[in-house]
Amino acid sequence: MASDKPQNWILIGNAEDLKRDLASNGGLKEIIFGEKKVALSFFENKFGAIGSRCNHMGGPLARGKIEGGYVECPWHYWKFHHQSGEAMNTVGEPIAKSGGSIPSYNLKVENGDLYLDLASETKRISATYNQGLPISHLFREPKREPGRIRVVGISTTSMDKNHPRYSTSIHLLKSSLLRAENELDVETKFLALHEMNIRPCEGFYSKSERACSWPCSITKIDFNDEMAKIYDALVFWADVVVVATPIRWGSASSLYYKMVERLNSIQNQITLKNKVLIQQKVASFIITGGQDNIQMISGQMLSFFGELGFVSPPFPFVGHSLGWTAEEMERNTDFVQRNEKLHEQAFELLQRSVDLSKTLLAGNN
Ligand code: FES
Repeated sequence: MASDKPQNWILIGNAEDLKRDLASNGGLKEIIFGEKKVALSFFENKFGAIGSRCNHMGGPLARGKIEGGYVECPWHYWKFHHQSGEAMNTVGEPIAKSGGSIPSYNLKVENGDLYLDLASETKRISATYNQGLPISHLFREPKREPGRIRVVGISTTSMDKNHPRYSTSIHLLKSSLLRAENELDVETKFLALHEMNIRPCEGFYSKSERACSWPCSITKIDFNDEMAKIYDALVFWADVVVVATPIRWGSASSLYYKMVERLNSIQNQITLKNKVLIQQKVASFIITGGQDNIQMISGQMLSFFGELGFVSPPFPFVGHSLGWTAEEMERNTDFVQRNEKLHEQAFELLQRSVDLSKTLLAGNN
């Protein structure tokens, strides 16, 4: 029986040419009708046409790939059937209970040509999201909870957590946190990146600035990733952050940069939405190494944390190095362990940071 629904068949092109074209494009291609973008596909001898805008964050499905009959979004890998537009049961991101459904279109081949019925577009069914997930707390608006000044110390040095070694930067950081807790009426927390399972940034921002989200897309994809602890500390809990790094070939540690790349998701909110997640918070730095380049490292750290929204106290870092010719690391560790002046300087840095935090918070009341 003929359908009495209105139809609007549009010629797309010769079916054989399109098959060849699609085969050379990995089975997918974007076609545009006015405002509409459609992901045209050819898989196991069947054409398919669905909307090209992903249900998750609007990623361009037509630029993804097709596997097992499903189109995978290039941004965060949600999958939708290439003909029906229905999301795969596991959409690739545990935060979504269901990926919903993408609009789909009827197609027909007549006299060797492929036609698409624009009027047959089905309704988009939006994704639904799980509640009460381990990262739900990251979705709230940042708001300072009342209480004492809170200081988080973050160690970025690398080591095997099962075989820890002595670290000069950790020693200075921990000794200053302990003293601050006893003498400054503050709460403290110590986080060591080497004890956490942190996935590297996958460069979502490089795909599109809109593909980099807050909370971080990786945090939402992988609940085993522990970067959420750093986000929670920096965005919500702490008033002051002290970041400690060793010097590695004239730069901060590799774990420092791993963390920094993941913090792009905070900075990107400013670029994209004019949303500043970090306000009236203080950052300062401890930099130690057998060899030097402290000024360059501190400059980089200051500029990055400034870009996140942190401010820094006067004399914002403590640096220690025995200089370029010092390769004798036993002497270096002895020096730091025994050097009271260095520990005093680290504590004073923390004191300046806490003082600045108090001033900022008082100005806020
Ligand atoms: S999976 Fe498509 S936009 Fe995130």
